[in-house]
Amino acid sequence: MKKVIITGGLGFIGSNLINILKNKYFIINIDKVTYASNFNNINPYIKNYRFYKADINDKIFIKNILKKYNPSIIFNLAAETHVDRSIDGPEKFIKSNILGVFNLLESIRNYQKKIKLIHISTDEVYGDVKKNYKSKEEDAYRPSSPYSATKASGDLLIKSYIRTYKIPAIITNCCNNFGPNQYPEKLIPTIIYNILNQKPIPIYGKGQNIREWIYVEDHCDALIRIAEDGIIGENYNIGSGVLLNNIDIAKKIIFAIKKIIHHSNIISKIKLVRDRPGHDLRYSLNSTKIKNQLKWECKSSFKERINETIVWYINKFKTNHFKNDDFKYRTGLKI
Ligand SMILES: NC(=O)c1ccc[n+]([C@@H]2O[C@H](COP(=O)([O-])OP(=O)(O)OC[C@H]3O[C@@H](n4cnc5c(N)ncnc54)[C@H](O)[C@@H]3O)[C@@H](O)[C@H]2O)c1
Repeated sequence: MKKVIITGGLGFIGSNLINILKNKYFIINIDKVTYASNFNNINPYIKNYRFYKADINDKIFIKNILKKYNPSIIFNLAAETHVDRSIDGPEKFIKSNILGVFNLLESIRNYQKKIKLIHISTDEVYGDVKKNYKSKEEDAYRPSSPYSATKASGDLLIKSYIRTYKIPAIITNCCNNFGPNQYPEKLIPTIIYNILNQKPIPIYGKGQNIREWIYVEDHCDALIRIAEDGIIGENYNIGSGVLLNNIDIAKKIIFAIKKIIHHSNIISKIKLVRDRPGHDLRYSLNSTKIKNQLKWECKSSFKERINETIVWYINKFKTNHFKNDDFKYRTGLKI
């Protein structure tokens, strides 16, 4: 059985990736256990699975783990990910998203055997894109927030290591994900939580910011395709083609929740709050490369998957899946 390391495996996308890969590979999950981690995201009884609480910046630990397991792939999902938190305090982002990547690269460079690095990055590195334009893999990086600047820096370091040291790495740039296991501070869980608790739904600025939304399993599916058949040294955009502004997302979720819980007197209203500084207006990806080269396509219907996601959160909000602290930091409400 091939061994793969998944860093950040207690987070949103990493835990979904583990749940998909669990019967195919021996999985080593390395996670620092930050506020965004949740042990409930992973079934502790899965076979062929080891968890290590560690920072990807820990040189000795990463060296020893490579020696112990000799993995064939590292999926790097360990990162600080919330844009608002990066504006409040960028330092942690620099440590995990730049220095952490640097340490992984150095560890791979110093390790004698071949390991493929699949680095998970974001569409935010391309910055704002104009109406009707879709970012291509070869476009320049123009990050706007400390979060996207650290992701862009990590990507650039990897590109330099690919060229200079021939490190076998691939960078993936995906759009906004939704689905189960996402930390409640993010937009979609926040909307669902506030509607269920009859609270106003905080939306930044005029609510016209457009994002491309992909179901998390479609993203994971693309990562697996890329790990198996992607060309070393390349970047792949991963998008769904589903573009929605924040007001439309909120309206769609209000509508869906009313249908799901048969509750006509849901009174939650959208509340426009002071905009996030540096807020990009529009992201959109050109995903032709992955579709043509790897025959990957986004299979999910947004409508079906958002309904499933809402049902998942309705059920989890009733249990102790999340900690109380998880609801304290809310986009918009802190302003
Ligand atoms: N969520 C999205 O919509 C989205 C879209 C595109 C790309 N991405 C990228 O995908 C990756 C995963 O995102 P997510 O939404 O699952 O994030 P998340 O915040 O839910 O999880 C990140 C995990 O990484 C861990 N971590 C952070 N720093 C670490 C460190 N130094 N060492 C070890 N573990 C560390 C955290 O403890 C957490 O469990 C990130 O790189 C992010 O930039 C996310």
